[in-house]
Amino acid sequence: MKSFQLKGGIPLKGQVRISGSKNTALPLIAASLLTEEPVILKNVPNLEDVRTMVDILKHVGVAVSFRDGTMAITPKSGLGNHLPYESVRKMRASFNVLGPLVMRHGEAHVPLPGGCAIGPRPVDMHLEGMRALGIETTINHGVVSAKRIQTPDAQTFHLRIPSVGTTEQLLSIAVLMEGAEVVLNNVALEPEVQEMALFLNRMGARIEGIGTSALRITGVKRLFGTEYEIIPDRIETGTYLLAALVSRGDVELVGYHPGHNVTLVRKLQEMGADIRESENRIRARYLRPLRGTDIHAEVYPGVPTDLQPQLTVLAAVSEGVSVITDTVFTDRFVHVDELKRLGANCSVRNHTIIVHGVDQLKGAPVKANDLRGAAALILAGINAKDQTVIQNIDYIFRGYEEISSKLRGIGAQCELVEEELAS
Ligand code: EPZ
Repeated sequence: MKSFQLKGGIPLKGQVRISGSKNTALPLIAASLLTEEPVILKNVPNLEDVRTMVDILKHVGVAVSFRDGTMAITPKSGLGNHLPYESVRKMRASFNVLGPLVMRHGEAHVPLPGGCAIGPRPVDMHLEGMRALGIETTINHGVVSAKRIQTPDAQTFHLRIPSVGTTEQLLSIAVLMEGAEVVLNNVALEPEVQEMALFLNRMGARIEGIGTSALRITGVKRLFGTEYEIIPDRIETGTYLLAALVSRGDVELVGYHPGHNVTLVRKLQEMGADIRESENRIRARYLRPLRGTDIHAEVYPGVPTDLQPQLTVLAAVSEGVSVITDTVFTDRFVHVDELKRLGANCSVRNHTIIVHGVDQLKGAPVKANDLRGAAALILAGINAKDQTVIQNIDYIFRGYEEISSKLRGIGAQCELVEEELAS
């Protein structure tokens, strides 16, 4: 385990290049199992979660090479169809290989993913949807076994919640249900899900309604290899915009995807931040004290839940009172107690964070408990007076490529330290 040491209170200035999107790369790598032909993915971020997904593919016998952001995946025939608990325990997204493996083999066995620091994360809807699509599922000793028993001619499945993972899982099944007409209603609208549908169509799938809440899929016999470029990471984008503002600095992000952060940008402008966009760039400048506000993290196009912990930090150093809720993960609040150690005046009541802004946080030792919580603590340390040491920082490597050097490039004084050496 590593720690992250930061000396805060320095306005960040300069440019940061945004990496490829983790939550786009992961489902696309999993969906590459749907063809026997080579798939080339470009702009793939070099992250811990991506490496975990690569290990899973290798575990089932797929050849993968990954260098300088380009991943070549050659699934071949005769794949394995059992996943070890270790991979699903490490990363919930590994559950998403279940659909592709069932469609390749007729059956597959994947351990149930557990809950985590952001709250319970069941897979009931995944299984419900699979059953509707003619796949029998049973759970034995913590392992989900899925077996294809029939192909319905036509089926409509309504998602109880517009779940990202469920939409992706069911898409990867429906595309290979040859001759069947499947309608998925109330699907997730997140750009990462739309990218998955566009990627599948590039492989020869027939998905209509992309970008709307109803997807119509006509199953085909086989999918083909393709080449695809991963979009920029909108959560990394948001995190660096917030880093600029909590540091009271001026940072431009390059390789930005206009349109993917509209609600966030509006919220930051409402708080008084100066945000300017031009083509593939976005710049955040702190010109005056920011005002606290109400923040509701919700499904796309709302403010993303994956930015809620980082926004809590901005609220903590903005004037007045902010009220923060998260309708996706209603108890994603594990960062709040750590922020209090840094002098934030915030508390959780009835699934709501109440924040009273302070002028500046104060450095202290803290501990990360999850990926986005770790990002929030880094932002807090960037703002804080004196030194902050964040233990368990390894979570950050799951989702932020080269964060330490990117931050140093815009003037942050920060360093990764092996835990036993950390003070
Ligand atoms: C994806 O997780 C992301 N992960 C998460 O990012 C993100 O927080 C989440 O979507 C919401 O945007 C990846 O894309 C790899 P969901 P996912 O299914 O697919 C409930 C990060 O930090 N639900 O949309 O697992 C669930 O409990 C990660 O990068 C069920 O009840 O999220 C949650 O309340 C963390 N039953 C809601 O739906 C189910 O069967 C939305 O979850 C499935 C989900």
